[in-house]
Amino acid sequence: MLARWRLGVLLVLSIPIGIYAYLFQFQLTGDPAFHARFSLTPIPAFLHVIAGGTLLALGGAQFSKRLRASYPKVHRIIGRTYLIGVLLAGCAGFVLAFTAEGGLVSQFGFATLAIVWLWTGTQAFIAIRASEIAVHQAWMMRNYALAFAAVTLRIQLGLFEAFTDAPFESFYPVTAWFSWVPNLLIVEWFLIPALVFKPRPAT
Ligand code: HEM
Repeated sequence: MLARWRLGVLLVLSIPIGIYAYLFQFQLTGDPAFHARFSLTPIPAFLHVIAGGTLLALGGAQFSKRLRASYPKVHRIIGRTYLIGVLLAGCAGFVLAFTAEGGLVSQFGFATLAIVWLWTGTQAFIAIRASEIAVHQAWMMRNYALAFAAVTLRIQLGLFEAFTDAPFESFYPVTAWFSWVPNLLIVEWFLIPALVFKPRPAT
């Protein structure tokens, strides 16, 4: 479904951030302010970071045509693990959104992301239960583009820190929206030719 080089870029960016999540959970890296805040809500924090890291690291491989064609069982197992991960990490992310750094703009940005993420995951699940493969793929592309916010957010934070003197609180609210809205628009751009929002009526 994805050209080989695009899949390669996706994996090179997503797997390290998935691993970062595990390192964060075991306090091997990460901002002390985040650790202090997360220690106040340890269960949602644990579910969010571990389920999020796992699904992010595993999910990219699902876009490999070869994996789907040669190992459909593996595709199914990863797919189920991924969607359970979205359910756990999304609900937990929604809870964490209310205490996010950066005030109401960040909090609203993360809470909206969590809702859209859970919703696109539900649509993908409904489509595959109805054996609507093309519709399932389209919703999964949207859903993974949102999971990929974990990558784009960290790239954007790195760029802000490297090239501006702005304090963290001033650009964090920007990234709470900019980490995912463009991802979704890019996927919609890819999907325009297919127009796969709904099952097509039989002709
Ligand atoms: C796409 C839906 C997601 C939502 C709504 C979301 C939401 C959040 C929120 C609200 C926080 C706390 C921010 C704060 O306290 O200021 C957070 C932090 C975090 N999230 Fe997510 N997140 C999502 C996806 C992911 C994914 C896929 C990963 C996997 C790597 C992930 C890993 C983390 C980590 C490690 C932190 C700790 C802070 C850090 O080191 O940056 N999140 N997330």
